[in-house]
Amino acid sequence: MKSLVNKNILLGVTGGIAAYKSAEIVRHLKKSGSAVRVIMTKSAEEFITPLTLQALSGNRVSTDLLDVESEAAMGHIELAKWADAILIAPATANTIAKLSSGRGDDLLSTTTLAFDGPVSLAPAMNQTMWRDDRTQENLEKLKTKEFKIFGPGSGEQACGDIGLGRMLEPLEILQLFSSSFNQEEMSGKSILITAGPTQEPIDPVRYITNRSSGKMGYSLAEAAIQSGAEVTLISGPVHIDPPEKCNFIPIETAVEMYEAVMHHIKGKDVYIGTAAVADYSPANFNESKIKKEESSSSLTLELQKNRDILKSVSKLANRPYVVGFAAETDDLLDNAEKKLINKGLDLIIANDVSNKEIGFDSDDNEVTLITTTEKKYLEKQNKKKISKKIIEFISLAVTN
Ligand code: CTP
Repeated sequence: MKSLVNKNILLGVTGGIAAYKSAEIVRHLKKSGSAVRVIMTKSAEEFITPLTLQALSGNRVSTDLLDVESEAAMGHIELAKWADAILIAPATANTIAKLSSGRGDDLLSTTTLAFDGPVSLAPAMNQTMWRDDRTQENLEKLKTKEFKIFGPGSGEQACGDIGLGRMLEPLEILQLFSSSFNQEEMSGKSILITAGPTQEPIDPVRYITNRSSGKMGYSLAEAAIQSGAEVTLISGPVHIDPPEKCNFIPIETAVEMYEAVMHHIKGKDVYIGTAAVADYSPANFNESKIKKEESSSSLTLELQKNRDILKSVSKLANRPYVVGFAAETDDLLDNAEKKLINKGLDLIIANDVSNKEIGFDSDDNEVTLITTTEKKYLEKQNKKKISKKIIEFISLAVTN
C-alpha cells in the first residue's frame, strides 16, 4: 500500500457495532505509513472508546464540534485542511443521509463538508436499512459527488438478520482505499511551477503589480505533489500558504523570477508557468520616494520590457515539457493558440480572465487545454479539481 505513505488520513468513526473494527483500520493505516487522526461521533463512543483509537493513532481523538479546547487545538476547518483524504468506517445510514443532504451538525459532518478532497465510505447497517430507497438514493447522490463507497458485504449481521449491510473487513477496506486514493501517476518526476504576480518597484514605497492571486499555481503544486511528483514552487507575493511538501522559493520581481527559474530548471521533467509575470518594469528605480510636483499635472514613467520566462525555458537545450497559461479577455482560443506556437510550448491552458466567476481571484476556473494536435475543454469547477485534471493530462504526455 505504497500510495498511503506520508499521507494525512482522517478516519471518521460513526455509531455501529462495526466501530470496534476501526481500531484495526487505524493500525493498518499507521502500518502503511500514513499519519492518522480520528473523529468519532457521539454514538461511536458507545461502541469503542476514544482512548483506544488515540493510543493506536498516536493523536488526540476529536469528538466534539462545540468543545472550545479541541476546536482551539485543531478545529473542523484545520482538520479538513490537514487531511489528504477522509475515510468513514463504519458509515451509518444516518451519517450517509447527512452527507448526502449537506447537513453539518457534528464534528464529522462539518469537517467532511469543509473538506475538498476524496471521501470514502464503508457503510455498515442492518440489511433492511441498507435496502431502503432513501439510503440508496443518498448513496447515488454521493457517488455523483465522487464519494467512493466500499461494500457493504453480505452475511449474518449482529442483529441476527442475514443480507447485505455488514462492513467489509478492515484489510479489504484498506486495499480499496489505497488503490482508489492515489495513482501516483507522476511518481519519480520533478516539476517546476511559477505562481502569483510579480511586483516591480518604482521607488521604496511603490510598485507595479497585477491581480493574480496565485490560487491556480498553488493548487497545481498541490495536485502535482498528490500525484507523487517532486515540486518546486517559485512564487510572487500572495496571501496563501504554500503546500507543505514542496521546495518553496519566494521572489518579488520578474527579474528575480527569471533568475530563480533558470537556477532550478535543470533536470526538471515539467515546467508550468502560471505566474502573471510583469511584461514591463520601471526602467529606473528611484532610491528615494518620488515627490509630487506641484507644477505638473502628470508623471511619466519609463518602462522597459522584461524577458519572457516561458519562451526562455522552451528554448533551453534538454528542455522539459513546457506548459503555459494564456490569461485572455478577448478571442480566448485564437490568442492562446498563437501563444502556444510563438512561445514553442507543449501545452497552453486558455483561461478567460474577463469572467469574474472564474477570473484571477476566484476559487473556480474553466479552461481549455490546447496542444498542436488536441483541444480539451474542462468545464467550470473548483481550481483543485481543475488542477488534478491538468496534472493527469500532463502525466499522460510525460510518462508515455
Ligand atoms: N510569461 C512569462 N514571462 C513573461 C510574461 C509571460 O513566462 N515575461 C508566461 C506566463 O507565465 C504565462 C504565459 O507566459 O504562462 C502567458 O502570459 P500572458 O500574460 O497571457 O501573455 P504575454 O506573453 O505576457 O502576452 P500578452 O500580455 O500580450 O497577452
